[in-house]
Amino acid sequence: MSAAADLTRAYRDTIGHLATGVTIVTTTGPDGPAGMTTNAVTSLSLDPLLLLVCFDRGSRTLDGVRSSRRFAVNVLRAADGDLAAIFASKRVAREKFERVTHRESHGVPVIDSALAWIACELHELLEGGDHVIGIGEVTGMGVGECGDPLVYYRGGYTTTVRD
Ligand SMILES: Cc1cc2nc3c(=O)[nH]c(=O)nc-3n(C[C@H](O)[C@H](O)[C@H](O)COP(=O)(O)O)c2cc1C
Repeated sequence: MSAAADLTRAYRDTIGHLATGVTIVTTTGPDGPAGMTTNAVTSLSLDPLLLLVCFDRGSRTLDGVRSSRRFAVNVLRAADGDLAAIFASKRVAREKFERVTHRESHGVPVIDSALAWIACELHELLEGGDHVIGIGEVTGMGVGECGDPLVYYRGGYTTTVRD
């Protein structure tokens, strides 16, 4: 293996120690709701209210965000590992959405079972290597029934444990 490939592998293994929540970023694509499993989501600013999502350039959800200029972040529950797998696949968007019920809120599809959701208007798209950083201005949000979050850690799913 080349030195660059070694470094990439080491980086992936190392950054995998950073536990993150797991979300489905939704948007409206050419054929209706679209979405993908996403853990590169970060709160960016409180004034104004901004958050960022890192989109792989090959993501079809990114195409929908480029055209609709809106997206939502839907936070997954501990039991939603199967949903994360489906939305991480390259199935057509219609098939992904057969697995969830959703509603339209603030112009974006919101997954009914989400632990919490945040709707955004696209503020800016920035270049980020092989990804595109989507900065969204928050337009709405909601919190679902109380529960534990799905957590991604070292390439697998876990959850938090609280007393
Ligand atoms: C736990 C997990 C986290 C992921 N995080 C991201 C992410 O932050 N950004 C991204 O572009 N893809 C991420 N992916 C990969 C996408 O979900 C995957 O490429 C998906 O097929 C894209 O779907 P689309 O082409 O329908 O948009 C993640 C996958 C998994 C399993």
